[in-house]
Amino acid sequence: MSTIKKDKGLDNTLKVLKQGYLYTSNQRKRLNTDVFETRAIGGNRFVVLNGKEGAELFYDNDRIQREGMLPKRLVNTLFGKGAIHTIDGKKHIDRKALFMSLMTEGNLQYVRELTRNYWLANTQRMENMDQVNIYRESVVLLTRVGTRWAGVQAPEEEIERIATDMDIMIDSFKAIGTAFKGYKSSKDARRRVEDWLEDQIIQTRKGKIHPPEGTALYELSHWEDYKGNPMDSRTCAIDLMNTFRPLIAINRFVAFGMLAMYENPTTVEKIKTEPDYAYKFAQEVRRFYPFVPFLPGMAKEDIQFKGHDIEKGTRLVLDVYGTLHDENAWENPNEFRPERFENWDGSPFDLIPQGGGDYWTNHRCAGEWITIIIMEETMKYFASRISFDVPEQDLTVNLNSIPGYINSGFIIENVREKV
Ligand code: HEM
Repeated sequence: MSTIKKDKGLDNTLKVLKQGYLYTSNQRKRLNTDVFETRAIGGNRFVVLNGKEGAELFYDNDRIQREGMLPKRLVNTLFGKGAIHTIDGKKHIDRKALFMSLMTEGNLQYVRELTRNYWLANTQRMENMDQVNIYRESVVLLTRVGTRWAGVQAPEEEIERIATDMDIMIDSFKAIGTAFKGYKSSKDARRRVEDWLEDQIIQTRKGKIHPPEGTALYELSHWEDYKGNPMDSRTCAIDLMNTFRPLIAINRFVAFGMLAMYENPTTVEKIKTEPDYAYKFAQEVRRFYPFVPFLPGMAKEDIQFKGHDIEKGTRLVLDVYGTLHDENAWENPNEFRPERFENWDGSPFDLIPQGGGDYWTNHRCAGEWITIIIMEETMKYFASRISFDVPEQDLTVNLNSIPGYINSGFIIENVREKV
């Protein structure tokens, strides 16, 4: 067994934040190794796993613990205390079944129709705007789709504020660094949204409002765990938000998708004409662009991995971005090529922008199908229903900064409906 090479330093958090998505691949190259160790977030020691084999180990529930491993500051802003993301074992499987029960064919078809119809209905508004910032326009539009899909009441005059609060929370990935200036405003945004949703849960339970059966608001409000207990109303509000805050975050993939169409113009015609192309395109956007950087866990037992000993209790990080750009898993990973999904074998351990493994027993994202559907419908809309110009702007995607985004947000102008 060989010792694991180290990126020296008492706390490399600042370095991680500075090098962003490239930190892990930089270290792997520099140290000439697949597996390496670093210290971050208060000097804690982490072993960084990468690639298909790394993901396979990471999602082995017998060997890896997830509960308690997310940075506290991120739980306080992005996920919420007691959220599904933060629990393991029987309790997790029980509550995850609730989330997965929302992903019925009918509910998935509903989100497809909502996305299609809201974009179509938005055309006139965009025609009347001098410029449309796609990042901002889609965060608001997806707030309409998400709240409607979840059965939550969101008054028209509140939509912009809710969208902004959601965006602030999603941006709080930066909260792993203690110097994050937006920490307080993310926590404030979370409190506002939790209050608003908790009120609707209480009203639903009292029979004062009547969300349709099958919606997230209805199902979460009436759910009982395996011991027959309902969720307390605050945790219920937190997990209700976890059914549609991430849906609103798809605005980031939408902006990246627009950039991908712009930089790869041949894809536009294919989205319009080839039946499965929008699907392949959506998959490639999720693989190619920077979103979730890493996921944390801990070894439950002594583990041997790729010739290294990993002791029980060692903190681990799965390098999500690195795995999505791993040369062993993807041919020419730094090329944007939707066609690669023609022959993809559907492995649960290589395409992991939203986590990997099994939906029901692992922490893999419950909303992956929704994400693909929303991307398919949105990209089809922009490719075939409207024409527009792309003015000069800063289209840089800075991989040195987490979370990733296009500097300009992606701006279009002269929007016109195609007849
Ligand atoms: C979990 C990413 C969209 C609901 C996750 C995880 C990631 C992720 C990385 C954690 C995986 C892990 O810990 O192993 C994303 C991204 C999205 C997205 C990048 C698109 C922008 C959605 C949508 C929903 C959703 C649309 C709506 C239902 C959830 C839930 C979990 C989760 C409930 C927790 C699952 C668990 O702990 O078992 N997501 N997600 N996500 N996601 Fe998503």
